Amino acid sequence: MKNDHQSDVWIERACHLGAVGLSVTMAFLLRFDFSIPNGVFPILRQAVLLAALTKLPIFDWVGFYRGLRRFASIPDLYIVFLGNLAGSAIFAAISIFWIGPAMPRSVLLIDTLVCFLATALVRFSVRIRDEAFLRERSGDGRRGIIIYGAGAAGAELVHEIHSNRCTRYEVKGFLDDDPLKQGVLILGVPVLGSGRQAFSVVRSLNRRKPVVDEIIIAMPSATGPQMREALANCRAARIPCKTVPGIEELLSGKVLTAQVRNLSVHDLLGRQPVKMDETPVQASIAGRSVLVTGAAGSIGSELCRQVARFGPACLIAFDQAESDLFRIENELREKYPELELVTALGDIRDPHRLADVLKAHGVESIYHAAAYKHVPMMESHVLEAIRNNILGTWNLVRTARHHNARSLLMISSDKAVNPICVMGATKRVCERIVSARNPDSGGPKGASVRFGNVLGSNGSVVPIFQAQISIGGPVKVTHPEARRYFMTISEAVSLAVQASTRSQGSEIFVLDMGEPVRIVDLAETMIRLAGKVPYEDIDIEFTGLRPGEKLLEEINDGQNAGILPRCLEKVQIIREQPLTWDIVADWINELEILLMARQEPQLIQHIQKLVPEYTPAAKCTHVQAEQKLLAGSSLRSRSALLSSGVRENGKAGKNGKPRPTAAPTQFIPPIAYEQ
Ligand SMILES: NC(=O)c1ccc[n+]([C@@H]2O[C@H](COP(=O)([O-])OP(=O)(O)OC[C@H]3O[C@@H](n4cnc5c(N)ncnc54)[C@H](O)[C@@H]3O)[C@@H](O)[C@H]2O)c1
Repeated sequence: MKNDHQSDVWIERACHLGAVGLSVTMAFLLRFDFSIPNGVFPILRQAVLLAALTKLPIFDWVGFYRGLRRFASIPDLYIVFLGNLAGSAIFAAISIFWIGPAMPRSVLLIDTLVCFLATALVRFSVRIRDEAFLRERSGDGRRGIIIYGAGAAGAELVHEIHSNRCTRYEVKGFLDDDPLKQGVLILGVPVLGSGRQAFSVVRSLNRRKPVVDEIIIAMPSATGPQMREALANCRAARIPCKTVPGIEELLSGKVLTAQVRNLSVHDLLGRQPVKMDETPVQASIAGRSVLVTGAAGSIGSELCRQVARFGPACLIAFDQAESDLFRIENELREKYPELELVTALGDIRDPHRLADVLKAHGVESIYHAAAYKHVPMMESHVLEAIRNNILGTWNLVRTARHHNARSLLMISSDKAVNPICVMGATKRVCERIVSARNPDSGGPKGASVRFGNVLGSNGSVVPIFQAQISIGGPVKVTHPEARRYFMTISEAVSLAVQASTRSQGSEIFVLDMGEPVRIVDLAETMIRLAGKVPYEDIDIEFTGLRPGEKLLEEINDGQNAGILPRCLEKVQIIREQPLTWDIVADWINELEILLMARQEPQLIQHIQKLVPEYTPAAKCTHVQAEQKLLAGSSLRSRSALLSSGVRENGKAGKNGKPRPTAAPTQFIPPIAYEQ
């Protein structure tokens, strides 16, 4: 590529040399009506020599040869203009001084104009060739495409396709919803209609070859609903669609055509992924000994990958799941051969094992992702949830204190806010344990990050829907109005490492995850992405909210007390009054006694002492639970919801409306997934 550019520069220089000589000659010819007197030839020769000697170095100096000729555009024309103005002025001054009054002044003027035109022609020649001639080649297996979105990204895509000989696309037109753009030409390509007219536009275009093979959605800053609508319109036209990357990648200046790719669910989740500055993270991890609990799980393993990138002195991957730990160990050793990696098999409920690990490796920073997390399963394993999540966290915090760890960051969940499930309640307790501190004593700076649903994590809705779609459905959704906040795994982990860097202790970090996504919309979109029609090819079945599940998760409790000014874009920080260490220790002692006695109702009451907002799902019927949530959500009433034909465990009908069936007496989860 570099060599290509170098040789192109030399060709361009040679052409400019010719252009300079020719324009001086042309100026003399025009000045003398194409019959130059014999006596003027020596002056012409001198003028050509002087023009070459003065103008060419100036062309170089103003930056004629920095840009690629394939992508020549208006800024290049400006540079050509500037170069000619400066070059001609210096040429005029030198030639008047050198040649004297014999140098015709009008020649200088004509030369300036002709030279500008000739050098501009050289600059744009490659683009003109690519756009005007190579595009004309047809019948060579080109793919007809429509670009959905006649904005900057769409125009850039057309520009690239036109100027890149290797792309096999032929842009047949744009689709855009803006009425002002209808019928206009953008880089010679017409806007043929709105998104909803995709079907008729494709049908009329297909009368001429090449037919439309693909629609490329070029809306890098589209919201989730806009993307979903675009996808539905493409499906209506029965044409496969792809998309261009988000604005971040576009701004990074990568070649656009190379990045046209299939749509993924990430495109449909309604917001741009949040990217954070990594510099402070690097400083806080490099050279430190870092422990990740739950390292074999989806979030823990991603944490290990991210931490490994920043060069810790030692990374300790701690988990009780032997095979998964083995897998992440192999992966990390392969990817980071230099990394000082320790895989520690162990249970966070075992304080001695934790103490061994922290002591042996001088752990300084801890990321705590080990937990039981599946809501319905924990509802039927209350004691296990409490023992694992609460006592495990307590052990870890105590051991970290004892071994002088500097920071401890716990991965919490949006289910910890106003919890109605035991999993959420245990996470809320863990947040309080991690934040606890005594003003006069040391201990790690403890903080939590609250995640929404992490796309693609173990048991998350996306892989489960994918599996259900791959066997022809039905796709099982708990409730037509169930909504969740989603984040990508890289967002989740980046938030966690950023939070651990910025924490002063006792905070809860919450990412602004945009609008919650309706699970049924996600299901429909995923069915469409698989090339099928929801409710026709693949049914959606409503199985009813399962024990402990809400219609909508919240990300904070709505009381804005304790919200700190943002130190990270899109991240809210909540700081509440931390409990003292002694209060927590007493509370845990009582908990252990109740656990030993296996007294579930008393345990729930005991948790409510620390988390008074916890309303166990078993205590509120599903109707109450929904009402409680509807009151706080954007949904107005359950009757409105039911009037749309929704029944728990209802099945979607062919017309897209849910088909009512008899409501069951019991909610049995078909598959335990995190919705
Ligand atoms: N995945 C999500 O969508 C999501 C969303 C919000 C919050 N979270 C929270 O993030 C954390 C991790 O979630 P995940 O998706 O990675 O779950 P996961 O099930 O994939 O991983 C959890 C890991 O913790 C380990 N673990 C559990 N108990 C342990 C113990 N006592 N000792 C040692 N290891 C133990 C498990 O073996 C497993 O490898 C959980 O606390 C979860 O509540 C997850």
